[in-house]
Amino acid sequence: MLKQETIDIIKATVPVLEVHGTTITTTFYKSMFAAHPELLNIFNHTNQREGRQQNALANTVLAAAKNIENLGALLPAVMQIAHKHRALGIKPEHYPIVGENLLGAIKTVLGDAATPAILGAWGEAYGVIAKIFIDAEAELYKQTEAQAGGWADFRPFVVDRKVKESSQITSFYFKPQDKGPIAAYEPGQYITVRINTDSNHTAMRHYSLSDISNPDYYRISIKKETNNTAPNGVVSTYLHDNVNEGDVVYLSAPAGDFVVDLKKESPLIFISGGVGITPLLSMMKTTLVKQPKRKVMFIHSAKSSEFCAFRSELVELSQKNTESLKVSVSFTHVQNFNGADETKEQCDHMGKIDVAYLRKTLDDKFIANSDVYICGPVEFMKAINSQLKEIGVPSENVHYEVFGPLVQV
Ligand SMILES: Cc1cc2nc3c(=O)[nH]c(=O)nc-3n(C[C@H](O)[C@H](O)[C@H](O)COP(=O)(O)OP(=O)(O)OC[C@H]3O[C@@H](n4cnc5c(N)ncnc54)[C@H](O)[C@@H]3O)c2cc1C
Ligand code: HEM
Repeated sequence: MLKQETIDIIKATVPVLEVHGTTITTTFYKSMFAAHPELLNIFNHTNQREGRQQNALANTVLAAAKNIENLGALLPAVMQIAHKHRALGIKPEHYPIVGENLLGAIKTVLGDAATPAILGAWGEAYGVIAKIFIDAEAELYKQTEAQAGGWADFRPFVVDRKVKESSQITSFYFKPQDKGPIAAYEPGQYITVRINTDSNHTAMRHYSLSDISNPDYYRISIKKETNNTAPNGVVSTYLHDNVNEGDVVYLSAPAGDFVVDLKKESPLIFISGGVGITPLLSMMKTTLVKQPKRKVMFIHSAKSSEFCAFRSELVELSQKNTESLKVSVSFTHVQNFNGADETKEQCDHMGKIDVAYLRKTLDDKFIANSDVYICGPVEFMKAINSQLKEIGVPSENVHYEVFGPLVQV
């Protein structure tokens, strides 16, 4: 329990943090990596460079300060981060390193304004917040290792098959090198891939499991992140270009709390953009098997036919499950990238998803009572979220996953 005096100081420093939060965390990362270069192996360098991670950490520290008297309110956010920390192998011994460097950064940035009383209060508060994370992660480590087919940290897997799904997305099927059982997962969860970027460094990225949980393999489907204006994505490009059938990569066990609730019976609406289809495809396939009577609407948006992954899988599933599943695919570009016109046979709707299209595609029963799962680029999810509001979907029924550090949509 924190003393009232500590709580008062923490609350009084919220406005200061709001002004300096990101500068403090940027300073913090610099000093931490200088003192502990080994931690460069677990952080995503692109997120660091782009400031995405700094904002996520700054926002969490701020949320903690605002809720210092009621840290329970942070629990859903803590669990989402704890899943990612567990998947990346963050351990209790890392927390004092973060704490020491965070306090050092507050001191550097605030200068004389960071009195011993303020630093003492933040030191104490950090200890309380860190303990919440450490305890949540200890429970996740325990569950992960204890489950049938589970394992601690990273385990070698062989690429059994590599299947091209679209011009940019390729599926990887992994089987364990030790040929032992593999952990089951909930639809919507991800695994974390670790690769060696050179002889001294590793990089890790999360990838949603795109198939129904099964005892034989894990399937993930990866978009190769390339464009002309920025360096290629490190891990996705490496996996596409250098990892082939028979090669070994290291995976941590399934994680994540963006999962479909299979105890509920409400109709389900899945809305995906681009590679965001992956967790929703797993959710949809699992629902069809486990709850064959549950009504499911799957809406997918891609740029054009050549960018549209899993189109034939979606069509096949809707033909096999005519009572429960409806699929609608839309293309945002009327022409594909070879200049040929897209036709109605290739998709169900031309153009972006908008309110008129949603009203036409979803019947009223769906709109009022459904649970909606969205995944895609952040701007896509923001647009869909506001359209869903406009057509009357209650916001508590909308669930989404960001393929990067958490942001509100
Ligand atoms: C829970 C979760 C599930 C996910 N599931 C999937 C999935 O199923 N499939 C999938 O494909 N991805 C998924 N992702 C995303 C995935 O984890 C990676 O973020 C993605 O593959 C990019 O990683 P990378 O190493 O290739 O790119 P990074 O090196 O991390 O780069 C990210 C992007 O930034 C750009 N970039 C790099 N340097 C610069 C620069 N200097 N200036 C501007 N831009 C720059 C790159 O071109 C790239 O587009 C998921 C993420 C999360 C968190
Ligand atoms: C109380 C302390 C901590 C808080 C509040 C915190 C908060 C966060 C947040 C908000 C994220 C972003 C989650 C997302 O992607 O949505 C994150 C990710 C991450 N955290 Fe922590 N964290 C803490 C401690 C630690 C420690 C001790 C380490 C290890 C040294 C660590 C390593 C990481 C890594 C590697 C990521 C993923 C970043 C990336 O790859 O971009 N965190 N953390």
